[in-house]
Amino acid sequence: TPRIFSGIKPTGHLTLGNYLGALRQWVAADRTPESALFCVVDLHALTVEHEPARVRRLSRQAATLFLAAGLDPQRCTLFVQSHVDEHTRLAYLLECTATDGELRRMIQYKEKAAKAQVSGEGVRLSLLTYPVLMAADILAYGAQEVPVGEDQRQHVELTRDLAVRFNQRYGHTFAVPKATLPAVAARVMDLQDPTSKMGKSHESGAGIVYLLDEPGVVRKKVMRAVTDSGDDGVVYDREARPGVANLLDILAACAGGDPAVLAEGYSGYGALKRDVADAVVELLRPLQERHAELAGDPAEVEKVLREGAERARQLARPVVDRAYRAIGLLEP
Ligand code: TYM
Repeated sequence: TPRIFSGIKPTGHLTLGNYLGALRQWVAADRTPESALFCVVDLHALTVEHEPARVRRLSRQAATLFLAAGLDPQRCTLFVQSHVDEHTRLAYLLECTATDGELRRMIQYKEKAAKAQVSGEGVRLSLLTYPVLMAADILAYGAQEVPVGEDQRQHVELTRDLAVRFNQRYGHTFAVPKATLPAVAARVMDLQDPTSKMGKSHESGAGIVYLLDEPGVVRKKVMRAVTDSGDDGVVYDREARPGVANLLDILAACAGGDPAVLAEGYSGYGALKRDVADAVVELLRPLQERHAELAGDPAEVEKVLREGAERARQLARPVVDRAYRAIGLLEP
């Protein structure tokens, strides 16, 4: 069985996009603690303006949601990135493998750097090196598969390039991973702005379904979703009808089926929205119930994370040590 690794950064409340694009695939893939590792990548949350107390709170909440979504700590390793030093140890070696030009080409860097510049905050250096830390997250475990949404594909490609380059230059050290994307909903779009991704921290929040939104809030957001001009039948066309296509993708991801085929069952947007709202509410219900139970027992979540970090350290240590020797560093 291939080893898989993936992570979510605690920069905001988790969204339906995080769930359909990533978390749900993880739950389907958890098998053994050694073959499936899932991480709250808190160091990544420090690359943009952040509130320390909020990052702490969101990290705890993300871990709780991992469990609430159905990840079983007996069948996978759940941990927090900053608890395992191997990630930053390896990131430096990979910084000595990657080039400045390569990192400046990353789409997310360009977008986020532009935003930070406009707001006058300045661009943190870690925003540029971020994908190198992400590569370290993956390579430290010899992970072969990385279940992510579409927006992380480019970062996983970079990870592959760095692994291959390191191996060629210094001898075989790293497994070369690949991204695995869900068949539908690999890129859930904002309900108010269906040409941009549903992100944790999009301006208003009106177009974002958060995993812990109450049913009434979910319904309101879905019913107010921007659809496309001209209600002349429901067709699945991501280019010409991005709003409707997004709703069909969400419906297909929640209820099963093919978005283009589902479209044939509707003559108007109203009925489609009602079905999407129902499907999302039903999808989130069990997760929200488990979250409410777990949130009452933070000690249990902490215990899972502590044991997870211990196991993760043991898995990453030998790989990172091997990389240190291969690149020319003296054994202590
Ligand atoms: P992050 O925290 O932005 O998102 C977590 C996961 O959710 C997916 N995702 C989406 N999928 C579909 N539609 C959307 N609208 C949507 N929004 C987010 C993301 O693709 C991701 O899989 N750099 C990563 C975190 C990371 C990581 C890693 C991932 C750090 N190290 C190592 C995998 C392996 C990130 O910012 O994801």
